[in-house]
Amino acid sequence: MKIFNSIKEMQVFSLSSKRDGKKVAVVPTMGFLHEGHMSLIDIAKKEADIVVVTIFVNPTQFGPNEDFSRYPRDFERDSRLCHERGTDAIFAPEASEMYPTGASTWITEDSLSKGLCGKSRPLHFRGVTTVVAKLFNAVLPDLAVFGQKDAQQLAVIKRMVRDLNFPVKIIAGPIVREADGLAMSSRNKYLSPDERKNALSISSALREAGKKIFGDSAGLRDFVSSKISSNGGRVDYVEVVDAETLEPDCNFERPLLIAVAAYFGTTRLIDNTII
Ligand code: PAJ
Repeated sequence: MKIFNSIKEMQVFSLSSKRDGKKVAVVPTMGFLHEGHMSLIDIAKKEADIVVVTIFVNPTQFGPNEDFSRYPRDFERDSRLCHERGTDAIFAPEASEMYPTGASTWITEDSLSKGLCGKSRPLHFRGVTTVVAKLFNAVLPDLAVFGQKDAQQLAVIKRMVRDLNFPVKIIAGPIVREADGLAMSSRNKYLSPDERKNALSISSALREAGKKIFGDSAGLRDFVSSKISSNGGRVDYVEVVDAETLEPDCNFERPLLIAVAAYFGTTRLIDNTII
């Protein structure tokens, strides 16, 4: 397995793989890998000949009071896991490689980024679209795999790819959960044992909501929200939106996304389900 820190070397590797007729897939991550990330690598391996995992804790998608500096990092472990899973190359640039001094160009998606997480994290998706575009320009992939866990991120990236004509096919991987239902996340590491137990209310509320019949989306929202609050969670949002457009004014005829963000202690968790 190759490890690249420089954009130039990454591009040379990718271009020569493509010249050999190989299809290149990228799995963008911020590292501290878990089985959710691994499942995306498995999908990438099925769809392409060469799999590149990017590991970069992207400073521009964190707000000033968010967890950028304490975001968990363990490159040795990540590279071992990638190697074991058959990754061909890791791209792990320094921040100075990705953002040269004076970098002043951004990609902003102006519609889907505004709701849900965009309300409490106003510049988050600008950081995500910018870094993903830059990662695409470094890895030059034919396809990219993203998790449904970050449903809004997936929608925003699909929109960016469409609007800016990136020649990259976007593939979605399903949410991978712990045995008890908690959606896997690098941030689960922050949870105390009590917080972790209480945080199960998110996935169980989503599961129960998917089985119940509600007259309207407000009833569904209140149901999920009160389950989480009564288990000590501080709800940032519970929203019921059209699964494709993320528009709130949806009807029960089309697939609906129930999306949740809630704090347990200081840890902000997100989860969702499509019904
Ligand atoms: P990160 O949170 O590391 O997630 C990397 C990818 O793994 C994302 O596509 C995310 O949706 C997926 N993922 C995370 N947890 C998952 C789970 N439990 N099941 C399935 N997939 C899961 O998302 C980011 O990094 C960054 O925003 C990034 C796209 C890399 C840009 O910096």
